[in-house]
Amino acid sequence: MDGDLPTTPLPADTVGLLEGIVTTRAIRRYRPDPVPPEALRTILFAASRAPSGSNRQPFRFIVLTDGPVAARAKALIGSSARRIWGHKRATDRYDEGSGARADSPKARMARTMQRYVDDFERVPVLILPCLVRYREPNPFEGASVYPACQNLLLAARALGYGGVMTGWHQPVEADLRQLLAVPDGVLLAATITLGRPEGSHGPVRRRPLGELVHGERWGEAPGWAVDPPGTRHTAAGPAGGPRRAESPPSRRTE
Ligand SMILES: Cc1cc2nc3c(=O)[nH]c(=O)nc-3n(C[C@H](O)[C@H](O)[C@H](O)COP(=O)(O)O)c2cc1C
Repeated sequence: MDGDLPTTPLPADTVGLLEGIVTTRAIRRYRPDPVPPEALRTILFAASRAPSGSNRQPFRFIVLTDGPVAARAKALIGSSARRIWGHKRATDRYDEGSGARADSPKARMARTMQRYVDDFERVPVLILPCLVRYREPNPFEGASVYPACQNLLLAARALGYGGVMTGWHQPVEADLRQLLAVPDGVLLAATITLGRPEGSHGPVRRRPLGELVHGERWGEAPGWAVDPPGTRHTAAGPAGGPRRAESPPSRRTE
């Protein structure tokens, strides 16, 4: 029924589904512009159409934009983010090795992260996806909330916005629960920030498909598992994947 659909039409220049998927990068630098309610409605509508076990739809979204409660939540998560990133920057030695060169991918990443956490209080939108628990916590429960998170990020991309998901709410969870009146039995599943990107969107870089896909058995890549021509790769993450006689050459970056 048309009356049940959101009233916001997608803009004419919206991206196609596959293009959107392969260009939805983690966006951490935002312009200060607010995200209008019509865009939030479309983004959250897309999030809420995600699959979940038995179609229970246990996902909920706390959407914080401006106002005193949003400011307090951003400040709480911002302080947590600065602590977590400060620790990771030191322990993962972001300023050593290639990180000492200002133009290296490692140094650029450190600058982006530092700015992200320093400016956290100014993110245009903060979303806390939640999961209403209906049974004991188990390793698979995230499967009924994280597809909604990815739908959310993809819909944001479709409208020219961008975001990133983190776990930075966790150290300040008790304060957030009190501030936002989150009942017991509801899991705070993620922290997502959204805004109009300062830079450009994707393409994302991942490992070669042949390293990530196994065929008939573990350790053997099917012959068709080859990236489209021109795909750029990353060496991020632990090495290893299926064996193949002629692996396509991977362009290693950071
Ligand atoms: C489970 C999960 C946890 C993440 N945690 C963080 C985080 O704590 N901080 C952060 O800046 N990004 C976080 N991210 C974003 C990832 O760093 C990002 O998706 C990944 O580096 C790929 O980025 P790209 O799509 O721009 O290549 C997380 C993503 C996922 C799925």
